[in-house]
Amino acid sequence: MTLATASRKLKRAARIILVGAPGVGKGTQSERLMKRFPQLCTIATGDLLRENVKNKTPLGQHAETYMHSGGLVPDPVILNLILNELSSRKWLETYDSTENIIAALGRGNGSASSVARASNSPDTSFILDGFPRTATQAQALSYLLPINLVLQLVSPVEVILSRLANRWIHLSSGRVYNVGFNDPKVAGIDDLTGEKLVQREDDSEATWRKRLAKFDETSRDLLEFYRARDKNMVVTVQGNSSDEISPQIFAEVEKRFGM
Ligand SMILES: *[C@@H]1O[C@H](CO)[C@@H](O)[C@H](O)[C@H]1NC(C)=O
Repeated sequence: MTLATASRKLKRAARIILVGAPGVGKGTQSERLMKRFPQLCTIATGDLLRENVKNKTPLGQHAETYMHSGGLVPDPVILNLILNELSSRKWLETYDSTENIIAALGRGNGSASSVARASNSPDTSFILDGFPRTATQAQALSYLLPINLVLQLVSPVEVILSRLANRWIHLSSGRVYNVGFNDPKVAGIDDLTGEKLVQREDDSEATWRKRLAKFDETSRDLLEFYRARDKNMVVTVQGNSSDEISPQIFAEVEKRFGM
């Protein structure tokens, strides 16, 4: 299948999240969406976290205290990272002080929605990556930002498992190869260093089945939250490969946000 490569313009802001099991190819779809719609970018909470820690911002230092003790970074801290990023990009048209918004978010009420308003300019379009993963997080995020498209990516479990079971890793760099997708040039050998690739113990099929089941459970509530807000918000796209999925999500974004 050939993918059309011509880029398209958006006429209003797209604020997208991709929901899909590990191994379904969310990263691939994000990259393809950004190529197709150059006004889209990715805001990845993992990256924001790493940058803030590296630059020793107050938020980064605060987050680090949780990371050092092996705990999860609490939702309000993640929301704060997103808020900071959006306001430094000037993508929130009006906003109260960060402290007031975070305080409102922390109380779990909706008053922040009256002080933070996302821009509707198509140049403020993005795919939010890494958050929200649960319905509770989605609820908290909704006070800050109206997500307007949720793309649920679905591949058969057996297809995902065979993909995951074929993962080979270069341990010292973390480079991942997928047999049948992005094969190493020489089987079992890292392209750049020539060192041996390994398969992780925790990449066993049984472990992945458990992870996928867990994912199904949390994502069910997340999707339900968005469906309850607007029955047209969630679009389910199925395919056995990234090439089957891409044209469908391109068409959906085009239909909703295209010129
Ligand atoms: C997708 O994968 C499933 C499960 O392996 C298989 O039954 C089905 O025929 C595949 N569909 C296509 C279009 O290849």
